[in-house]
Amino acid sequence: STSMRVLGIESSCDDTAASVVCGDGVVLSDARHSQQKEMSELYGGVYPKAAALGHAKYIDRVVEKALVDASCTLADIDLVAVTIGPGLAPCLSVGLGKAKELVKLHDIPLMCINHLEAHALTARLIDQTLEFPFMVLLVSGGNCQLVLAEGVDEYRRLGQTLDDAPGEAFDKTARILKIESSDIKGGVAVERASERARARGDAPVKFNEPMIRRRDCNFSFSGLKTNLRRKVKLYAEAQFNGTDACNAGEEHTQTVHSAEHSTGGDYIDHAHTDDTFVSADKKIKQQQYHDALAAGFQDAVFDQIVRRSARALLYADKKLGLQVKSVVISGGVAANSELRRRMTTMLRERDVALACPPIALCTDNAVMIAWAAIERCKAGVPVEGDSEQAQSIRF
Ligand code: KG4
Repeated sequence: STSMRVLGIESSCDDTAASVVCGDGVVLSDARHSQQKEMSELYGGVYPKAAALGHAKYIDRVVEKALVDASCTLADIDLVAVTIGPGLAPCLSVGLGKAKELVKLHDIPLMCINHLEAHALTARLIDQTLEFPFMVLLVSGGNCQLVLAEGVDEYRRLGQTLDDAPGEAFDKTARILKIESSDIKGGVAVERASERARARGDAPVKFNEPMIRRRDCNFSFSGLKTNLRRKVKLYAEAQFNGTDACNAGEEHTQTVHSAEHSTGGDYIDHAHTDDTFVSADKKIKQQQYHDALAAGFQDAVFDQIVRRSARALLYADKKLGLQVKSVVISGGVAANSELRRRMTTMLRERDVALACPPIALCTDNAVMIAWAAIERCKAGVPVEGDSEQAQSIRF
């Protein structure tokens, strides 16, 4: 019913989150603790076992905060909803363990929620007039999917990544280009570098789009990453050799000279691609080139995402006879304004609306977990407990 109160719990990656949401969609609380900073400082990414220890350390506090912020106690909670997957197994089990402890102690029903389903349904929390069918583009650090939502519990995956997720590709790119920092996510670093290149008037470095001839809705980003590494290396070698570094590309094979033939006196060993000994001026030029690479990489990733989304709409229309009226973008990469701009342009031509939930609800959170449980209750498809059935929720 609309007066029910659901406590959602989420711990699938590096965010520990808990939230209380009412049956009518009013969010009473949204408590979170992120381990992003320490994970990136200590491990350069999410290390599942360490993240699980972090969840274990913070989960009690986060759940307590969610209840306090909502001015309620467990006696007011009608249902506990918890993420069962997909996600990092040791992390998921912390949230599930906590949820089970709570329902046992207070005799509350438990509902296990598929993380991807929750992302898809978030858009209907924001806009309760959003009708099925709609398309969901989920682009995050761990996922890349195009899903057609035909109803609650009725999802059809039209495409997914065959290798990396785009957020993951951006995180790696930021590291390769040495533009990463522990305060911001890799994707943000890439977006800012792209903006710097554009502001300077530097054209994005061109990347060939992978799988351009494939006639499906799948994605692949690892080829772009290999390509990026090669461009970085060629540039560093060209700089080392004193040749025109900006024209270094795989088309121009540069002869790699030995250290004795180096024009600059600032190299003391054979570490061609180690920039420790590069002069300040060369470092600036290199960083500017890296910004142009970031811009090119981002372009290539978004070109692919926009093309595949357009294809998915065509597929829904021509093969399934479904007129999709809205596309929802979710996941951390949905924060990127260039992606939003490009999707808006593509969708406008097709008379399809773009729905972007607020960024805070696009990234991992517990509001969406509670909301997905509410949607399931309303649609009459609740899945209780952590049964086999719950784990295999069709998505
Ligand atoms: O959904 P999310 O918070 O959690 C994971 O699935 O990890 O997504 C975070 C991901 C990271 O990979 C991050 O680099 C990316 O989203 N991201 C962005 C931007 N902000 C975050 N990617 C591109 N542009 C952004 N502005």
